[in-house]
Parts: sequence; structure tokens; C-alpha cells
Amino acid sequence: MKRHNFSAGPCILPQEVLKQASAAVLNFNDDNLSLIEISHRSKPFVAVMDKAIALVKELLNVPKGYSVLFLQGGASMEFLMVAMNLMKVDGKAAYINTGTWAKKAITEANSLGEAIVLGDSSDKNYNYIPKGYTIPSDVDYFHCTSNNTIYGTQMKEFPHCPTLMVCDMSSDIFSRKVEVSKFDIIYAGAQKNMGPAGTTLVIVKDKILGKTGRKIPTMLDYNTHISKDSMFNTPPVFPIYVSMLTLQWLKDLGGVEVIDKMNQDKADLLYAEIDRNPLFEGTAAKEDRSNMNVCFLLTNSSKEEAFNTMWNESGISGIKGHRSAGGYRASMYNAMPIESVQVLVDVMKKLEQN
Ligand SMILES: Cc1ncc(COP(=O)(O)O)c(C=O)c1O
Repeated sequence: MKRHNFSAGPCILPQEVLKQASAAVLNFNDDNLSLIEISHRSKPFVAVMDKAIALVKELLNVPKGYSVLFLQGGASMEFLMVAMNLMKVDGKAAYINTGTWAKKAITEANSLGEAIVLGDSSDKNYNYIPKGYTIPSDVDYFHCTSNNTIYGTQMKEFPHCPTLMVCDMSSDIFSRKVEVSKFDIIYAGAQKNMGPAGTTLVIVKDKILGKTGRKIPTMLDYNTHISKDSMFNTPPVFPIYVSMLTLQWLKDLGGVEVIDKMNQDKADLLYAEIDRNPLFEGTAAKEDRSNMNVCFLLTNSSKEEAFNTMWNESGISGIKGHRSAGGYRASMYNAMPIESVQVLVDVMKKLEQN
């Protein structure tokens, strides 16, 4: 039986959220109707949407002047929407290339204008976060990826930014405190710390919009979705509902500060074993190590079969590295209990003892 789910996304969600979500699929709000068969404009669903938005604002301390949206198309759609809504005609934007997802965002920006790459860690297979660059003030915006899911690197600090700052927080949103006021757009696919795939959270500062001089197609215009409270078209009701439940779970737990400490404890436990155990080595530069995705290799490939058998038999799943990085990746999102991390650490110790 698989009990310890280290998948990178879609990934582990709190058990009680899954129970509540499955009950709502059969009988939502005690009306004998399923959550997924009622109108998104019905009172009960509008209440879900309102609550999800209120929880995002409360948990992240979102200041006034920002809109919270639940959109579709994944974080990948935001790669384009950000450029579409912020890049002026013949404009420029600055990016740092920290891996596959950042590169995809750069590609979309280049389809509308010029993406200047200020820092690039591809020389070392993205195992560090570029630093020491200066963001020019004459670009339309600066874009970064706070946590690089595939390579296990995480920005511990954000640079001084003399222009608009945009961040893809898909794989670490709600895992640690962030100062939302430092950012102009934050976006994140739901399928890590929030809920099932199918909705994307966007937090956008209202006053930055409508200044590009370009004609934006209706569905790609953030203002369309702001003016219709994320209901310009039928919203993905189930992912939004489950996200709301997960955010409520996080609030009940004590919020982002409490989960931040729990995530730090989990990361400390696993990195300490990687650094101690001669059979393993971490791939990310130490100062840039992610608390969400821990990437590591076996130092002795002849142990691979034994290790794979042992973690499999311990009920661990989802720790194979991404195909472009290889090795192993243990993703430890908010819902992962430290007990599961301990199981992995015990397997690593046992491999050494064998
Ligand atoms: C950091 C990051 N950005 C963007 C994406 C792409 O998200 P989506 O599949 O929702 O388009 C991912 C997916 O894992 C991701 O980890």
C-alpha cells in the first residue's frame, strides 16, 4: 500500500480535505445535489468562491488594491497572460532562467516582445539560483520563479525591483510567508499546495493593468476576470471547492507561519540525512535548497535496485526524479506529515547499514 506520497504535483492533499471533497461530490450543502451538478451562479457555489478568495487574502495578508482570481489553463497559461497584460507593444521584460518552467515563460514573452535574460543557471543544469544581477528600470516587468519544482531550488530572497515584479509561485505558495506588496502579480497552479489541477490562482495589483497599448483578447485580459469575479465563463467548480477546503485546513492549522516552521523541520530532517549518509548527495546548491522539492542522487549506482525496492516496500511513492533531472526527488508539500519524511530517512539509513 502506498502511504507516503512524495509526488511533485498533482500531489498529497490533507486526508480530511479529500474526505470532505468526496462527500460534497455526492451531497453538497445537504441539498442532495452534487457540488459538480449545481450552477456556478447558485448561492451555495458563490459562497464557496467568496470564501476561497477571502481565505487567500487572509492567509497571505493580501493588501487592498489587489484582485484574487481563480482562472484556468494552468500556470502555463499565465506565462502568456502575464506578457499579454504587462508587456507594451514592442516592449521588453526581464526574466531569470531557473529551469524548464522559467524557460517556457520566457518563450511566451518572446512571442509578444523581447525577454531579456538577466541570469541563467542552465550551465549547471539549474542547480542554483542566479544572483548578483541588476534589474533595469526601463523594462515593463521582471519575472521570476520562486521555487523550481524540477531542480529543487528555491529563491530565499527576492531582488530589489525597480519595475513591476511578477512571480510564478506554483510550487511553494502558502508554504512560507511572502510579502505580497512586493509583487505586482503572483500566480500558481493549484495542484501543489492548494488543490487538484484545474484552476490557477492569480493575485494581481489592479492599477498595473490596462497600460500596454495592445488589444488583449477577452479571455486573456485579467480585467475581464476581475470585472466578473472569476465567473466570466464557467469556473472549475471542483478544484476551487477543494482549494477552499485546503485553505481552511491551513487556516485551522495556524496559517502560513505555522506551516513554514513545519516545512522547515521536514526539510532539515531530510537534508541532514542526505548530507550525513555517504550513499547520497544533494543536487541543489546548499544555499538555494528548496523546502518543497528535495533532489538527490545515489553516489553508488549499484545500490539503485536495492534502494528502489526498499522505498517501494515502505509504502513510499513518487520519489523518482523528473526525466530532465534524473535521480530522486522527494516533494514535501504542506500536507505531507513529518512522519512520512522520517520513513524515507529510515530507508536511507537502512540502505547504508546493509
Ligand atoms: C514552478 C512551476 N511553474 C509552472 C508549472 C506549470 O504548471 P501547469 O501544469 O499548471 O501549467 C509547474 C508545473 O509543475 C511548476 O512547477
